[in-house]
Amino acid sequence: MKRNLFRCLGLAAALATSSIASAQTALRMGYALAPAPNSHYGVAGSAFAEEIAKRTQGRFKIEQYPNSQLGGEREMIESVQLGTLDLVVTSSGPVPGFVPETGIVDIPFLFRDPAHARAVLDGAIGQELLAKFPARNLIALAWGEQGFRHLTNNKRPVGTPEDMKGLKLRTMENPVHITAFRTLGAAPTPMAWPEVITGLQQGTIDGQENPISVITSAKLSQVQKFLTLTRHVYSPAVVILSPKIWGSLSEADKSTFREASKTAAAAMRRFVDDLEKRGVDDLKAQGMQVVMGIDTAQFQSTLAPAYAEYAKKYGQANIDRIKNYK
Ligand code: PAF
Repeated sequence: MKRNLFRCLGLAAALATSSIASAQTALRMGYALAPAPNSHYGVAGSAFAEEIAKRTQGRFKIEQYPNSQLGGEREMIESVQLGTLDLVVTSSGPVPGFVPETGIVDIPFLFRDPAHARAVLDGAIGQELLAKFPARNLIALAWGEQGFRHLTNNKRPVGTPEDMKGLKLRTMENPVHITAFRTLGAAPTPMAWPEVITGLQQGTIDGQENPISVITSAKLSQVQKFLTLTRHVYSPAVVILSPKIWGSLSEADKSTFREASKTAAAAMRRFVDDLEKRGVDDLKAQGMQVVMGIDTAQFQSTLAPAYAEYAKKYGQANIDRIKNYK
Protein backbone atom coordinates (compact mmCIF):
# COMPACT_ATOMS: atom_id res chain seq x y z
CA MET A 1 0.00 0.00 0.00
CA LYS A 2 2.73 2.39 1.12
CA ARG A 3 4.88 1.35 -1.87
CA ASN A 4 1.96 2.06 -4.26
CA LEU A 5 1.49 5.49 -2.75
CA PHE A 6 5.19 6.35 -3.35
CA ARG A 7 4.91 5.06 -6.93
CA CYS A 8 1.88 7.29 -7.57
CA LEU A 9 3.64 10.32 -6.08
CA GLY A 10 6.72 9.59 -8.22
CA LEU A 11 4.59 9.35 -11.34
CA ALA A 12 2.81 12.60 -10.51
CA ALA A 13 6.18 14.38 -9.98
CA ALA A 14 7.51 13.03 -13.28
CA LEU A 15 4.38 14.19 -15.12
CA ALA A 16 4.63 17.65 -13.52
CA THR A 17 8.29 17.95 -14.58
CA SER A 18 7.58 16.85 -18.12
CA SER A 19 4.69 19.28 -18.44
CA ILE A 20 6.99 22.15 -17.28
CA ALA A 21 9.55 20.97 -19.80
CA SER A 22 7.02 20.79 -22.62
CA ALA A 23 5.60 24.18 -21.62
CA GLN A 24 8.94 25.75 -22.53
CA THR A 25 9.34 26.78 -26.16
CA ALA A 26 12.92 26.93 -27.42
CA LEU A 27 13.55 29.49 -30.18
CA ARG A 28 16.69 29.54 -32.30
CA MET A 29 18.36 32.90 -32.96
CA GLY A 30 21.18 33.22 -35.51
CA TYR A 31 23.70 36.01 -36.11
CA ALA A 32 27.00 36.56 -37.90
CA LEU A 33 29.34 37.62 -35.11
CA ALA A 34 30.82 36.34 -31.83
CA PRO A 35 28.68 35.48 -28.77
CA ALA A 36 28.52 37.81 -25.73
CA PRO A 37 30.57 39.57 -24.52
CA ASN A 38 32.60 39.78 -27.74
CA SER A 39 30.26 41.44 -30.23
CA HIS A 40 27.32 43.82 -30.29
CA TYR A 41 25.12 41.03 -31.70
CA GLY A 42 26.25 38.70 -28.91
CA VAL A 43 25.32 41.16 -26.17
CA ALA A 44 22.03 41.89 -27.92
CA GLY A 45 21.24 38.17 -28.19
CA SER A 46 21.93 37.63 -24.51
CA ALA A 47 19.96 40.72 -23.44
CA PHE A 48 17.03 39.49 -25.55
CA ALA A 49 17.24 35.96 -24.13
CA GLU A 50 17.36 37.20 -20.52
CA GLU A 51 14.50 39.62 -20.98
CA ILE A 52 12.28 37.01 -22.66
CA ALA A 53 13.04 34.42 -19.96
CA LYS A 54 12.30 36.96 -17.21
CA ARG A 55 9.12 38.39 -18.71
CA THR A 56 7.63 34.97 -19.64
CA GLN A 57 8.73 33.15 -16.47
CA GLY A 58 10.82 30.82 -18.60
CA ARG A 59 8.07 29.82 -21.04
CA PHE A 60 10.42 30.80 -23.90
CA LYS A 61 14.10 29.95 -24.12
CA ILE A 62 16.26 31.71 -26.71
CA GLU A 63 19.08 29.52 -28.05
CA GLN A 64 21.82 31.52 -29.75
CA TYR A 65 23.73 30.43 -32.88
CA PRO A 66 26.57 32.96 -33.33
CA ASN A 67 29.45 33.23 -35.85
CA SER A 68 27.39 32.56 -39.00
CA GLN A 69 26.86 28.93 -37.89
CA LEU A 70 23.52 28.98 -39.66
CA GLY A 71 24.79 30.68 -42.83
CA GLY A 72 25.21 34.19 -44.18
CA GLU A 73 22.75 36.93 -43.29
CA ARG A 74 20.74 36.59 -46.51
CA GLU A 75 20.42 32.84 -45.92
CA MET A 76 19.37 33.37 -42.30
CA ILE A 77 16.67 35.86 -43.33
CA GLU A 78 15.42 33.34 -45.91
CA SER A 79 15.27 30.68 -43.18
CA VAL A 80 13.29 33.03 -40.93
CA GLN A 81 10.92 33.70 -43.82
CA LEU A 82 10.44 29.95 -44.30
CA GLY A 83 10.10 29.35 -40.55
CA THR A 84 13.11 27.00 -40.34
CA LEU A 85 14.89 29.60 -38.16
CA ASP A 86 12.99 31.61 -35.52
CA LEU A 87 15.04 34.79 -35.13
CA VAL A 88 17.95 36.61 -36.72
CA VAL A 89 19.89 39.70 -35.71
CA THR A 90 21.22 41.05 -38.99
CA SER A 91 22.74 44.12 -40.58
CA SER A 92 20.55 46.00 -43.04
CA GLY A 93 22.87 44.66 -45.79
CA PRO A 94 20.75 41.96 -47.45
CA VAL A 95 17.42 43.33 -46.18
CA PRO A 96 16.49 45.39 -49.31
CA GLY A 97 16.49 42.08 -51.21
CA PHE A 98 13.44 41.21 -49.09
CA VAL A 99 11.95 44.61 -48.21
CA PRO A 100 13.15 46.98 -50.96
CA GLU A 101 11.95 50.17 -49.22
CA THR A 102 14.52 49.72 -46.43
CA GLY A 103 17.39 50.46 -48.85
CA ILE A 104 16.82 54.15 -48.18
CA VAL A 105 18.60 53.91 -44.79
CA ASP A 106 21.74 52.54 -46.52
CA ILE A 107 22.36 55.74 -48.51
CA PRO A 108 25.90 57.08 -47.88
CA PHE A 109 26.31 60.14 -45.65
CA LEU A 110 22.56 60.21 -44.94
CA PHE A 111 22.79 60.37 -41.15
CA ARG A 112 24.76 63.06 -39.32
CA ASP A 113 25.56 61.05 -36.20
CA PRO A 114 24.24 58.13 -34.10
CA ALA A 115 21.70 60.36 -32.33
CA HIS A 116 20.20 61.37 -35.69
CA ALA A 117 20.06 57.74 -36.91
CA ARG A 118 18.55 56.46 -33.67
CA ALA A 119 15.91 59.21 -33.63
CA VAL A 120 14.89 58.40 -37.22
CA LEU A 121 14.82 54.62 -36.72
CA ASP A 122 13.00 54.73 -33.39
CA GLY A 123 10.61 57.41 -34.65
CA ALA A 124 7.81 57.40 -37.22
CA ILE A 125 10.06 56.76 -40.26
CA GLY A 126 11.76 53.73 -38.73
CA GLN A 127 8.45 52.31 -37.56
CA GLU A 128 6.91 52.82 -41.02
CA LEU A 129 9.80 50.81 -42.47
CA LEU A 130 9.38 48.01 -39.89
CA ALA A 131 5.69 47.88 -40.85
CA LYS A 132 6.68 46.93 -44.43
CA PHE A 133 8.17 43.58 -43.32
CA PRO A 134 4.98 41.50 -42.75
CA ALA A 135 4.01 41.88 -46.42
CA ARG A 136 7.31 40.05 -47.13
CA ASN A 137 6.56 37.31 -44.63
CA LEU A 138 8.93 38.66 -41.96
CA ILE A 139 8.33 40.35 -38.60
CA ALA A 140 10.83 43.09 -37.78
CA LEU A 141 10.81 43.72 -34.04
CA ALA A 142 13.24 46.64 -33.63
CA TRP A 143 16.15 48.49 -35.21
CA GLY A 144 19.56 48.02 -33.60
CA GLU A 145 22.89 49.28 -34.81
CA GLN A 146 26.47 48.51 -35.72
CA GLY A 147 27.84 52.06 -35.94
CA PHE A 148 29.20 53.98 -38.94
CA ARG A 149 31.04 51.94 -41.56
CA HIS A 150 34.72 52.54 -42.38
CA LEU A 151 37.05 51.24 -45.06
CA THR A 152 39.88 48.74 -44.57
CA ASN A 153 42.22 47.39 -47.24
CA ASN A 154 45.62 45.88 -47.93
CA LYS A 155 46.67 48.03 -50.89
CA ARG A 156 47.18 51.61 -49.67
CA PRO A 157 46.12 54.28 -47.22
CA VAL A 158 42.90 55.74 -48.67
CA GLY A 159 42.28 59.46 -48.20
CA THR A 160 40.49 60.60 -51.35
CA PRO A 161 38.02 59.14 -53.86
CA GLU A 162 41.01 58.89 -56.24
CA ASP A 163 42.57 56.35 -53.83
CA MET A 164 39.49 54.14 -54.18
CA LYS A 165 40.10 53.58 -57.91
CA GLY A 166 40.30 49.90 -58.78
CA LEU A 167 40.18 48.63 -55.18
CA LYS A 168 38.55 45.19 -55.11
CA LEU A 169 36.23 45.90 -52.29
CA ARG A 170 33.94 43.39 -50.67
CA THR A 171 30.53 44.96 -50.15
CA MET A 172 27.43 43.57 -48.55
CA GLU A 173 24.81 42.16 -50.91
CA ASN A 174 23.16 45.57 -50.91
CA PRO A 175 22.27 47.47 -54.10
CA VAL A 176 22.67 50.92 -52.49
CA HIS A 177 26.21 50.16 -51.31
CA ILE A 178 27.18 48.52 -54.62
CA THR A 179 26.06 51.64 -56.55
CA ALA A 180 28.03 53.89 -54.17
CA PHE A 181 31.31 52.00 -54.46
CA ARG A 182 31.00 51.63 -58.23
CA THR A 183 30.43 55.39 -58.48
CA LEU A 184 33.51 56.01 -56.34
CA GLY A 185 35.58 54.02 -58.84
CA ALA A 186 36.17 50.91 -56.73
CA ALA A 187 35.43 47.40 -57.98
CA PRO A 188 32.62 46.34 -55.61
CA THR A 189 32.44 42.61 -55.00
CA PRO A 190 29.23 41.64 -53.17
CA MET A 191 29.94 38.68 -50.94
CA ALA A 192 28.36 36.98 -47.92
CA TRP A 193 30.21 37.68 -44.68
CA PRO A 194 31.34 34.08 -43.98
CA GLU A 195 33.55 34.22 -47.10
CA VAL A 196 35.19 37.56 -46.35
CA ILE A 197 38.12 36.59 -44.10
CA THR A 198 39.27 33.89 -46.55
CA GLY A 199 38.84 36.34 -49.44
CA LEU A 200 41.06 38.89 -47.65
CA GLN A 201 43.65 36.25 -46.73
CA GLN A 202 43.82 34.89 -50.26
CA GLY A 203 43.79 38.33 -51.87
CA THR A 204 40.70 37.74 -54.01
CA ILE A 205 39.51 41.01 -52.46
CA ASP A 206 41.71 43.95 -51.35
CA GLY A 207 39.45 45.33 -48.71
CA GLN A 208 36.07 45.56 -47.09
CA GLU A 209 34.07 48.08 -45.10
CA ASN A 210 32.44 47.70 -41.69
CA PRO A 211 32.00 49.59 -38.43
CA ILE A 212 34.63 49.54 -35.65
CA SER A 213 32.38 47.09 -33.77
CA VAL A 214 32.86 44.50 -36.54
CA ILE A 215 36.48 45.35 -37.37
CA THR A 216 37.42 44.64 -33.76
CA SER A 217 35.14 41.69 -32.98
CA ALA A 218 36.06 39.90 -36.24
CA LYS A 219 39.78 40.67 -35.61
CA LEU A 220 40.20 42.21 -39.06
CA SER A 221 43.50 43.78 -37.95
CA GLN A 222 44.97 40.30 -38.50
CA VAL A 223 44.14 40.42 -42.23
CA GLN A 224 44.03 44.14 -43.10
CA LYS A 225 46.80 46.77 -43.02
CA PHE A 226 45.00 50.07 -43.65
CA LEU A 227 41.94 51.57 -42.02
CA THR A 228 40.32 54.85 -43.11
CA LEU A 229 37.69 56.37 -40.84
CA THR A 230 35.37 57.18 -43.72
CA ARG A 231 32.06 57.05 -41.78
CA HIS A 232 30.64 56.65 -45.28
CA VAL A 233 27.40 55.07 -44.18
CA TYR A 234 25.52 54.34 -40.98
CA SER A 235 24.93 50.62 -40.48
CA PRO A 236 21.58 49.73 -38.94
CA ALA A 237 20.85 46.27 -37.60
CA VAL A 238 17.42 44.72 -37.22
CA VAL A 239 15.93 41.95 -35.11
CA ILE A 240 13.68 39.77 -37.27
CA LEU A 241 11.26 37.05 -36.13
CA SER A 242 9.56 34.33 -38.13
CA PRO A 243 5.87 35.02 -38.87
CA LYS A 244 5.15 31.40 -37.93
CA ILE A 245 6.23 32.13 -34.33
CA TRP A 246 4.60 35.57 -34.32
CA GLY A 247 1.26 34.03 -35.34
CA SER A 248 1.42 31.61 -32.41
CA LEU A 249 1.98 34.30 -29.76
CA SER A 250 -0.70 35.81 -27.52
CA GLU A 251 -1.08 39.62 -27.65
CA ALA A 252 0.73 39.85 -24.29
CA ASP A 253 3.65 37.76 -25.57
CA LYS A 254 3.83 39.84 -28.76
CA SER A 255 4.31 42.94 -26.67
CA THR A 256 6.93 41.10 -24.55
CA PHE A 257 8.87 40.20 -27.72
CA ARG A 258 8.76 43.82 -28.89
CA GLU A 259 9.95 45.11 -25.50
CA ALA A 260 12.73 42.51 -25.32
CA SER A 261 13.94 43.50 -28.77
CA LYS A 262 14.13 47.14 -27.63
CA THR A 263 16.26 45.98 -24.69
CA ALA A 264 18.46 44.08 -27.16
CA ALA A 265 18.80 47.15 -29.39
CA ALA A 266 19.77 49.30 -26.40
CA ALA A 267 22.45 46.75 -25.41
CA MET A 268 23.79 46.77 -28.97
CA ARG A 269 23.96 50.57 -29.04
CA ARG A 270 25.74 50.73 -25.66
CA PHE A 271 28.33 48.23 -26.91
CA VAL A 272 28.88 50.26 -30.10
CA ASP A 273 29.19 53.54 -28.15
CA ASP A 274 31.80 52.00 -25.88
CA LEU A 275 33.86 50.58 -28.76
CA GLU A 276 33.71 53.84 -30.72
CA LYS A 277 35.63 55.41 -27.80
CA ARG A 278 38.49 52.93 -27.64
CA GLY A 279 38.33 50.69 -30.73
CA VAL A 280 40.54 52.79 -33.02
CA ASP A 281 43.35 52.95 -30.42
CA ASP A 282 43.10 49.17 -30.02
CA LEU A 283 43.34 48.67 -33.79
CA LYS A 284 46.37 51.00 -34.00
CA ALA A 285 48.00 49.04 -31.18
CA GLN A 286 47.35 45.87 -33.20
CA GLY A 287 49.33 47.39 -36.08
CA MET A 288 46.72 48.94 -38.35
CA GLN A 289 47.73 52.13 -40.13
CA VAL A 290 44.85 54.54 -39.63
CA VAL A 291 43.77 57.53 -41.77
CA MET A 292 41.74 59.44 -39.21
CA GLY A 293 39.19 61.00 -41.58
CA ILE A 294 38.24 62.09 -45.08
CA ASP A 295 36.92 65.20 -46.80
CA THR A 296 33.27 64.16 -46.72
CA ALA A 297 32.18 66.89 -49.17
CA GLN A 298 34.66 65.58 -51.75
CA PHE A 299 33.25 62.04 -51.46
CA GLN A 300 29.68 63.37 -51.58
CA SER A 301 30.38 65.30 -54.75
CA THR A 302 31.94 62.21 -56.41
CA LEU A 303 28.79 60.33 -55.39
CA ALA A 304 26.48 62.80 -57.21
CA PRO A 305 25.40 60.28 -59.93
CA ALA A 306 24.63 57.69 -57.22
CA TYR A 307 22.52 60.23 -55.32
CA ALA A 308 20.54 60.88 -58.52
CA GLU A 309 19.82 57.13 -58.74
CA TYR A 310 18.75 56.95 -55.09
CA ALA A 311 16.40 59.92 -55.59
CA LYS A 312 14.77 58.11 -58.52
CA LYS A 313 14.42 54.91 -56.53
CA TYR A 314 13.37 56.15 -53.09
CA GLY A 315 12.01 59.64 -53.83
CA GLN A 316 13.93 62.83 -52.97
CA ALA A 317 11.16 63.89 -50.56
CA ASN A 318 11.60 60.66 -48.55
CA ILE A 319 15.37 61.10 -48.46
CA ASP A 320 15.00 64.74 -47.36
CA ARG A 321 12.52 63.69 -44.67
CA ILE A 322 15.29 61.55 -43.14
CA LYS A 323 18.07 64.10 -43.70
CA ASN A 324 16.09 66.93 -42.15
CA TYR A 325 14.69 64.90 -39.24
CA LYS A 326 15.20 66.76 -35.99
O1 PAF B 1 29.50 43.33 -43.49
C1 PAF B 1 28.54 42.62 -43.15
O2 PAF B 1 28.07 41.73 -43.89
C2 PAF B 1 27.87 42.88 -41.82
O3 PAF B 1 28.18 44.16 -41.35
C3 PAF B 1 28.25 41.83 -40.76
C4 PAF B 1 29.71 41.80 -40.51
C5 PAF B 1 27.79 40.44 -41.23
C6 PAF B 1 27.52 42.13 -39.46
O4 PAF B 1 26.17 42.23 -39.62
